[in-house]
Amino acid sequence: MKLEEIGRRVREIQDGGKLAVITDENVGPKYLPACCRSLQDAGFDVYTFTVPSGEESKSGRVYLKLLSGLADIPLTRSDGVVALGGGMVGDLAGFTAATYLRGIRVIQVPTTLLAAVDSSVGGKTAINLPEGKNLAGAFHQPELVLQDAELLSSLPQQTLLDGMAEVIKYGMIADRELFDRLKDVDAAWKNLETIVGRCVAIKRRFVEEDEFDYGVRHLLNFGHTIGHAIEKCSDYGFSHGLSVAKGMNFITAIAAEQGWCGADAFDELHGLLKAYGFDLRVPYGDAELFGAMCSDKKREKDSIDLVVPESVGRCVRRTVPVSELRGLLESGRPVIDKENMDKENA
Ligand SMILES: NC(=O)c1ccc[n+]([C@@H]2O[C@H](COP(=O)([O-])OP(=O)(O)OC[C@H]3O[C@@H](n4cnc5c(N)ncnc54)[C@H](O)[C@@H]3O)[C@@H](O)[C@H]2O)c1
Repeated sequence: MKLEEIGRRVREIQDGGKLAVITDENVGPKYLPACCRSLQDAGFDVYTFTVPSGEESKSGRVYLKLLSGLADIPLTRSDGVVALGGGMVGDLAGFTAATYLRGIRVIQVPTTLLAAVDSSVGGKTAINLPEGKNLAGAFHQPELVLQDAELLSSLPQQTLLDGMAEVIKYGMIADRELFDRLKDVDAAWKNLETIVGRCVAIKRRFVEEDEFDYGVRHLLNFGHTIGHAIEKCSDYGFSHGLSVAKGMNFITAIAAEQGWCGADAFDELHGLLKAYGFDLRVPYGDAELFGAMCSDKKREKDSIDLVVPESVGRCVRRTVPVSELRGLLESGRPVIDKENMDKENA
C-alpha cells in the first residue's frame, strides 16, 4: 500500500476527527508532507510532532512532552495517533497512544526494515528508563499497519542490514522456504515487499497464538539473548541488528556443538549471514557475556530461556540452568574463535 493512500485507509477505521502524527527528524522531512496531505484530503485535522532521531528520544522526558502535546490539542478518545518512523518512533508513539486517556487508537507506518518486519506488528510498545531498555511499556495493538516498501528506499545501507538480521531470524525460526529465498542476496534486496509480507505473516501467526508473550512468541527472541549481551558489552556500539546476527550465529554454534541441531544448520546460517556481510566476530570473553546475560530481563530465577535451532526453519525454547550457561558459551566459543582467526588470516 502507498503512503498516499493513508487518508483513505484511516477513514475506514476512523470517521473524521483529529490525528496526531509523531515522527522523527530524519523521517519527517521525507515523508511527513505526503502523509499529512493524504490525511487532510480525507478530512482529518492533522497535528504533527517531530522528535529528535535516535534511541535517546524513547525516554520518559520525550514521552511526557508528547502526552502534554496531545492534551493541549486536545485529542479525545475517538481520535488517533499515527507513528511514522522506525522502531523508535513506533515504540514511543505506541506507548504514548497506549496510555493517553487510558489508550487511544494507534496507526503504525513503519519506515525501517526492522519496524516493517518486527516492531510495528504485535502491539509491544515501550520507552526506556535510565535503568534499562524498554522497562516501561504496554501491549497496545495498532488498528492499522500501513506497509509501503517504497519508504525503505531512503534508508542507509547499515540500517537496512540491521533489519535483514531480523528477516533471517524469521527464516531460521519458522520458514525454510524464506531462508532459501534469502540465499539470492540481490533478488532479496530487490523484492523486499514480498519478503516483508512473509515475515509479517509469521509474526502475526505467533502473536495471534500468544499475544502476551508467554509461549510461542518467545521464539522471536532467537539470537536475542546472546545478542542483547553482545550489544550491552559493546556499550551499544554494535547496532541491534548486528548484535542479533552475532547472537544467532553464536547460539547456533552452541546448538550444533550440543547436538541440538546438525552442524549443517550452523553452516547454512553462518553462510547466509556472511553472504549479507555481517561481521560475526564476538570480541568479548565468556565471563563478560555471561555477566551481561544474567542481568537480562528474560531471565527467570536460576534459569534462562534460550531459543535454539533444531534445523533451519525450526527453533524450540530451552530453559537452561544458569549454572550450565557458562559451559554452553564455552562449547560454542571454539567455533566463533575459528571465525575470528579466519578473518584475521584473510
Ligand atoms: N515493539 C517491538 O516489538 C520492537 C521489536 C524490535 C525492536 N523494537 C525497538 O525498535 C527500535 C529500533 O528500531 P529501528 O532499528 O527502526 O531504529 P530507529 O527507529 O531509531 O531508526 C533508525 C534510524 O533510521 C532513521 N530512519 C528511519 N526511517 C528512515 C527512512 N525511511 N529513511 C531514512 N532514515 C530513516 C531514523 O531516523 C534513525 O536514525 C528500538 O528502540 C527497539 O527497542 C521494538
